[in-house]
Amino acid sequence: MLCPLLFLSAFIVLAGAQQQTVTQPSVVDISSCPITYYGQKYGKLYVNFTRRDIMMCFDKFYDPRNEGDCIMGSSPDKRRAYFNIVQANSVLERWVKIKTQTIQNSLRCSVQITMQIGSSSISLHLFNFGTEAAMFLEADGIGLVAFYTRVSDVLINKVEVNNIVYKSQNDTIDISGCRHSDTVYKPGTVVNSDPQICSSVTCSETATLQTSGCGPLEHCQGNGICVLASTCTVTGPTVIDVQGHMNSIQDHCAYSLFSTPSLPDFLVLGNFRDRRRKDVSFLDSVTLRVDGHDIHLEQGGRVQLDDSTLTLSSSSQLVHGVQLSKDQTGVTAELTNLKISVFFDGDTAQIVLKGPAGSSVEGLCGNSSSSLSDLRLSEYSSTSCEMQYSETADSTIDCNSVTERCNLLKEAPFSSCNTDIDPEPYITACTDTLCKYPAVDGLNCQFLKAYARACSQYNHTLDGWTSKTGCSSEAFCQDRTCSDHEFCGEKMVSGDTRCFCRAIFASKYQANNSLGDATVCKENSASPTLVGCLLEDKDINYSALQLNDPTCRGRVDKLTHMVTFSFNSSKRCGTVVTTNNSYIIYKNTIRSQNYSSDVITRKDQVQIDFSCVYSQPNINTATFRIRDWSVAQCITSGAWNYTLTIKAYTDAGRTQLVEWNSELQLNEKIRMVLKTDGLDGSMVSVVTDSCWATDKASPTSSPRHDLIINGCANPADPTVQVEENGLATSTYFSFNMFRFTGGSSDIFLHCQLHLCPKQGNNCIPTCNTPARVRRSASLAYEPEAPAFISVSWTY
Ligand SMILES: *[C@@H]1O[C@H](CO)[C@@H](O)[C@H](O)[C@H]1NC(C)=O
Ligand SMILES: *[C@@H]1O[C@H](CO)[C@@H](O)[C@H](O)[C@H]1NC(C)=O
Ligand SMILES: *[C@@H]1O[C@H](CO)[C@@H](O)[C@H](O)[C@H]1NC(C)=O
Ligand SMILES: *[C@@H]1O[C@H](CO)[C@@H](O)[C@H](O)[C@H]1NC(C)=O
Ligand SMILES: *[C@@H]1O[C@H](CO)[C@@H](O)[C@H](O)[C@H]1NC(C)=O
Ligand SMILES: *[C@@H]1O[C@H](CO)[C@@H](O)[C@H](O)[C@H]1NC(C)=O
Ligand SMILES: *[C@@H]1O[C@H](CO)[C@@H](O)[C@H](O)[C@H]1NC(C)=O
Ligand SMILES: *[C@@H]1O[C@H](CO)[C@@H](O)[C@H](O)[C@H]1NC(C)=O
Ligand SMILES: *[C@@H]1O[C@H](CO)[C@@H](O)[C@H](O)[C@H]1NC(C)=O
Ligand SMILES: *[C@@H]1O[C@H](CO)[C@@H](O)[C@H](O)[C@H]1NC(C)=O
Repeated sequence: MLCPLLFLSAFIVLAGAQQQTVTQPSVVDISSCPITYYGQKYGKLYVNFTRRDIMMCFDKFYDPRNEGDCIMGSSPDKRRAYFNIVQANSVLERWVKIKTQTIQNSLRCSVQITMQIGSSSISLHLFNFGTEAAMFLEADGIGLVAFYTRVSDVLINKVEVNNIVYKSQNDTIDISGCRHSDTVYKPGTVVNSDPQICSSVTCSETATLQTSGCGPLEHCQGNGICVLASTCTVTGPTVIDVQGHMNSIQDHCAYSLFSTPSLPDFLVLGNFRDRRRKDVSFLDSVTLRVDGHDIHLEQGGRVQLDDSTLTLSSSSQLVHGVQLSKDQTGVTAELTNLKISVFFDGDTAQIVLKGPAGSSVEGLCGNSSSSLSDLRLSEYSSTSCEMQYSETADSTIDCNSVTERCNLLKEAPFSSCNTDIDPEPYITACTDTLCKYPAVDGLNCQFLKAYARACSQYNHTLDGWTSKTGCSSEAFCQDRTCSDHEFCGEKMVSGDTRCFCRAIFASKYQANNSLGDATVCKENSASPTLVGCLLEDKDINYSALQLNDPTCRGRVDKLTHMVTFSFNSSKRCGTVVTTNNSYIIYKNTIRSQNYSSDVITRKDQVQIDFSCVYSQPNINTATFRIRDWSVAQCITSGAWNYTLTIKAYTDAGRTQLVEWNSELQLNEKIRMVLKTDGLDGSMVSVVTDSCWATDKASPTSSPRHDLIINGCANPADPTVQVEENGLATSTYFSFNMFRFTGGSSDIFLHCQLHLCPKQGNNCIPTCNTPARVRRSASLAYEPEAPAFISVSWTY
């Protein structure tokens, strides 16, 4: 028979490893061959001796008051022991496996400790089999050798593998195991300690530990099986959290529905908005914020990634770690690595946590007792979202029959699910909502459907619920996209769906009985806009509306559903131009089309007048003194903007601008330009009615010298030439520099202008040939004296 001592000693010490001789308390590094001792992996051995024993502990030096994980045995002679790391070898592996019968992994290495006790040569081997380990004691000769293993005191009481006293000289023992909550389990152990709370421990044949127990979000079925499903339902204004508590949202803000501290970059939030009534909020869309990207799940099955629309189908699509898919029941977004799925059908969101999602769930789904203001997300909400509205109650609602319907959740087939999911919060949500909001737009089924869907997570199929309740499991309004101020609802008569105006949005228009926004007068075009959903409410088809000119129709914006009409200078659409003292008015009308075949009509006849105006420049307003020639005055009154500037030049080509403090020679020719910007020359022209000079800032002060009178050069001043007036959007004239006799040497120039609509008008003033009347007495120039010119003009 093969002598074990010789056999084992034949194996080669691991290359590079030094034999270590220990004679006093020492820490031996075995990290190159760590030993998994009853389930705990160690890379050190703390070796110490007493008179009688050698203590080799894995976690600390031996302490009799607080024993650790140790192998103890008879003290060697001279308190001397030798430590070696030995390479694995297939022959050795097979030998140990035959001896133990229980080891399954392959051998990686071993730690060999040799010593002399009396006449016996002792060799203790610790075998590293990965998660498993074995120990073997060789002794030649017959001595009183006792070795035993022990695990920490705390463990001993609960250990299934008790203190193993190891006396036999050629025993090989399996020191594999698993540790869980201060207990050591033997390989191949399954412990189901409490089926009610579903805790169990499994230590596999190869000593790997598996524990199960229901996580904070799991559900123990009572038969030892954890059901890995926890559902949060958000439907209408109601949130039913993972613990079945209910909360209700009254305002129109965005709220955090789900977040967890273990995943700081992930957030699910719900946006609540009004629909037909201002005083009831509905979950309107769900946003998944993943790594800084927003995936919006919206009504109609629409999915937006940041600002782009995604096209989804039943085969899933991976977007920033989220699997998105869509079917006729709604859209599902799954975070596979986290076992979180978010479903949204346009009305109801269900967040299903299929596994322990970490320490805790925060947001409305996790803990409804958190304060709502802490969970409100201002960056996703409009500023006025917290405003709450009141409205008169809907007297047509019969709360008793509503309650009866909501209570169907306690009857078959729903009742089969009642033990897994408490129907009460769903019934409360259903009655609370439907006692104050009409049961339209699928609301009659919404709460029943939400409960049925939550039950499906628990494998309750609720056979026949749709036929019993007259509901469909398909999403309402699938594939209809409404704009932000609209929601998708059901038409009363036909049952078809369309986009309706939200109540708060519509109320702004209902207040002044209008169908749209104030006319935008911009860049010489006039564009009134009507609100598509308001037109639909009045059963007006926008394509049957026209301006005065029947070829001018409205254009509908595909996204906002706003209908815009427009006319401009090149497409006038039958615009009627009128003037009064202060304005030129361009007026048109949006009206219903006339069909010659219609003898009667049952539709409202639409007639919406709108206009854009130019305000006339007006002398009666304040005068200001221009210090910088380029200063312009902006006129915003009326609706069409334009600016007026006045400039003076000294040369015929009008390139030499007169600076505000330029010195001018008397009798020098000054060329003036009164220029407008922003006017459409094909619609209006500018007419300078009069220009005059004073020596004080006030345009009404005296003395006064007229340059232009009634659009024509003052015949009394032969130097004045009106070069262009009433032809276009600028006017030009010139005069020779002068100064007032006596008094101030300043000259203030004032002009009065008006706008003249070109349509059918000749705006150019008719001037008589100037009479050559000389009034030189009042125009006595002093040629050497420099003159300052300040120009002031009024509008
Ligand atoms: C080693 O054992 C001796 C005797 O029990 C003890 O006095 C000493 O403190 C121990 N050394 C260490 C490092 O624990
Ligand atoms: C030593 O091992 C052999 C075979 O494994 C066994 O037959 C023998 O009884 C053992 N001896 C002692 C003293 O236990
Ligand atoms: C919910 O929050 C409240 C207050 O913050 C806390 O007392 C309670 O323990 C929490 N419940 C759960 C289940 O986290
Ligand atoms: C539902 O059934 C599936 C497949 O049969 C199963 O994997 C799952 O654990 C079941 N869920 C529950 C809550 O019973
Ligand atoms: C209706 O009234 C609102 C607020 O009073 C105003 O903002 C809006 O422009 C008005 N609409 C029309 C078409 O006059
Ligand atoms: C509106 O009128 C157009 C043209 O007459 C027609 O094609 C369209 O179907 C109508 N739309 C609705 C909603 O009735
Ligand atoms: C005027 O309106 C028509 C049609 O609305 C448009 O095609 C044209 O470009 C507009 N012209 C100007 C000058 O704005
Ligand atoms: C001139 O028309 C404008 C715009 O229609 C109007 O607001 C204003 O009252 C009118 N002024 C006079 C004096 O008629
Ligand atoms: C439409 O018909 C009515 C009544 O015949 C008429 O008064 C109106 O001017 C017509 N409108 C248009 C735009 O032709
Ligand atoms: C008029 O012009 C000013 C300055 O460019 C601008 O701020 C204002 O919005 C304009 N008004 C309209 C009605 O276009």
